[in-house]
Amino acid sequence: MQTSETPSDKSLLEIVEAVGQEIEAATVSSEAEAEAFRVRYLGQRSGIVTKLFKRIREVPPEDRREAGQRLNALKKLAEARLEAARNHLRQDQRPEQAAIDLTLPGRRPTPTGSTHLITQTLHDITRIFERLGFTVADGPEIEDDWHNFTALNFPPDHPARDMQDTLFIEAPANDGSGGVMLRTHTSPVQIRVMEANDPPFRLIAPGRVYRNETITYKSYCLFYQVEGLVVDEGVTMADLKHVLYTFARTFFGDEVTLRFRPSFFPFTEPSAEVDIWWPLPDHPKGGRWMEILGSGMVDPNVLEAVGIDAERYTGYAFGMGVERPAMLRYGIDDIRLFYENDVRFLDQF
Ligand code: DAH
Repeated sequence: MQTSETPSDKSLLEIVEAVGQEIEAATVSSEAEAEAFRVRYLGQRSGIVTKLFKRIREVPPEDRREAGQRLNALKKLAEARLEAARNHLRQDQRPEQAAIDLTLPGRRPTPTGSTHLITQTLHDITRIFERLGFTVADGPEIEDDWHNFTALNFPPDHPARDMQDTLFIEAPANDGSGGVMLRTHTSPVQIRVMEANDPPFRLIAPGRVYRNETITYKSYCLFYQVEGLVVDEGVTMADLKHVLYTFARTFFGDEVTLRFRPSFFPFTEPSAEVDIWWPLPDHPKGGRWMEILGSGMVDPNVLEAVGIDAERYTGYAFGMGVERPAMLRYGIDDIRLFYENDVRFLDQF
């Protein structure tokens, strides 16, 4: 018998079956649809499943147990579908929510690099000499004996040719001549330029050089030099001093004091090493002399080696390290810092 409240020509079990299929097929793709699903099937007053539970009275007593189980299963199905749909929606929304979470810390911009302090110093030195009318020349880091030593008037038995200083790629002969090496200074660029061109010359040659040195706070197996060469008619040592003073004042400041100290290089005669007075408040003498470069008048033997008339032309040359001036200028006390590539050091400049 059917009650007027729940007219139906289908049995409760058939209805459970049909509602089950409907639930399986339902699609839920938004929070609003999830809520509509909940109200439609599980709503406390008029949800379909809720109402079906009330019709259990219609079922003959002997079938009620099965009907109850089937209804419970239907309710579980509806709840499981609802929960799955909600989980899915929550996952979908997560990235979207993260993108607008203003409480999150901002993303750090990728750190930008900076010019290495040695490169900066090389640029500074180069710019000063360019303003004094010098052009920039370049040469290879792998050199032969002629350019690195012989044309620069190094006698075959000169100690600088010793294996201890020079990093050879091809060993020299037993008498010390010949061989291929990493250049030990930038002076070979003088030879290359003078061989390929006619005077006058007014150039600098910045670049990297190599020596087989014990690595300490003040020496490294590679470093940078800036070579200078001026060759023309009537060039004198006064021109050399003037250019070096102008350079030093521009680089270190107007108050700079230089000392020209007689020295020896095979490729210059006379030769002078130039020291800078470096004031040090804690020093007993108030400071000390620091050597910054070697220089001199180009030895006539060098001019002759490259076919330049040494009667007509004279010249001066100089070679300065780059690390030492940079260390003095920026208060760096260990040359190795330049080559360890620790960004905490490099970042500061
Ligand atoms: N080539 C020398 C060195 O590496 C430096 C040097 C000294 C260069 C005197 C010169 C110069 O041009 O005239 O120690």
